[in-house]
Amino acid sequence: MIINGLEIAKDCRAKLKEKIDKMEIKPCLAVILVGDDPASQIYVANKEKAATEVGIISKIFRLEKTTKEQDLLNLIEILNQDKNVHGILVQLPLPKEIDEKKVILAISPEKDVDGFHPMNLGKLVAGIKGLVACTPKGCLKLIKSVQSDLTGLNAIVIGRSTIVGKPMAQLLLQENCTVMMTHSKTKNLPELCQQADIVVVAVGKPNFVQGNWIKSSAIVIDVGINRLDTGKLCGDVDFNNVSCAAITPVPKGVGPMTIAMLLENTLEAFENQNS
Ligand code: GUN
Repeated sequence: MIINGLEIAKDCRAKLKEKIDKMEIKPCLAVILVGDDPASQIYVANKEKAATEVGIISKIFRLEKTTKEQDLLNLIEILNQDKNVHGILVQLPLPKEIDEKKVILAISPEKDVDGFHPMNLGKLVAGIKGLVACTPKGCLKLIKSVQSDLTGLNAIVIGRSTIVGKPMAQLLLQENCTVMMTHSKTKNLPELCQQADIVVVAVGKPNFVQGNWIKSSAIVIDVGINRLDTGKLCGDVDFNNVSCAAITPVPKGVGPMTIAMLLENTLEAFENQNS
């Protein structure tokens, strides 16, 4: 079975639109893009379009790639203080002269719709309600679209990034999975992977996970988006040689869910700020 991320994301957005249509004051998302990275420009345009379609007001701030760190921090502070802005997202990566960690720390945790602020990451670990990073949140929804109760399942997370791997492992733990967190230094990865009922891969290497690593009953979530020399997109999993219970395609798998979860988080941030 191929998990249709596009369709599941569409359902999420339709539900959000229905809620937001009934609201007198609309949620507002501020997106900051620094520089002219082509992939980031596309991502930001997609986020703006999706926000507008569900009735979220989006304000895009496009800053020169020569922008000084302090000027970016000043803009974030203005948006933190602005009661008409409910979510703030700084598109990554930032130009190398700007300290990404410092920028993430500057965003008010209540408006951190990416869920990247240590306060929100800490809440996730502590089991306190907070804003959860969009990609892992979307991955969990995709997994649960196949199987709603994950209790006792063996889950493997390949890749330990703060944006995907670490929060993903926490979410699966909360679902009562036995979670194995693996990374580039892990030994015997194929053997470990073969034991997993749920496989989430976010390493950014085309066709890294091979067909014989995956057991036939597994649910496989491929977070990778790699562009091959041919221009074709592919994931981190050797999709054509995997036979399993369910798998996400690339594209049209995890990607659309990340955007849908961003919109969900913006509504959640709005509700928290107005309750
Ligand atoms: N760059 C790639 N993915 C993301 C994301 O989810 N959020 C932000 N802010 N930047 C990104």
